[in-house]
Amino acid sequence: MLCCLGPPPPQLDDRGFVVVEAGGRSLLLRRKERQFTAMELICAHQGARLGEEHIGPNLIATCPRHGWQYDLRTGRCKTRPEYLPLPSYEVHLQGGELWVDLPEPRGGA
Ligand code: FES
Repeated sequence: MLCCLGPPPPQLDDRGFVVVEAGGRSLLLRRKERQFTAMELICAHQGARLGEEHIGPNLIATCPRHGWQYDLRTGRCKTRPEYLPLPSYEVHLQGGELWVDLPEPRGGA
């Protein structure tokens, strides 16, 4: 599912991030030099959405439902490290806009 994220947000610099919505999901959009990535902000426990308001210092996110914590620099769950990290996707800049190819949501389209 190809989603347009619009033009690169001006507040997104090499150290920063921004939370964007695409395809019904929350994504942490980051840029490192010329490469953009988007990490899906969905808790591995019971699927709660993580928003910008749940992100604290050092890119540590705390799930609003039961408090699991994630290190968004890596996507790893600090509370339950045996879980897979949050999924990340490559983002491409084309025609002045950012595009991300998201997998179909679980349970079908
Ligand atoms: S749904 Fe996130 S900790 Fe339970």
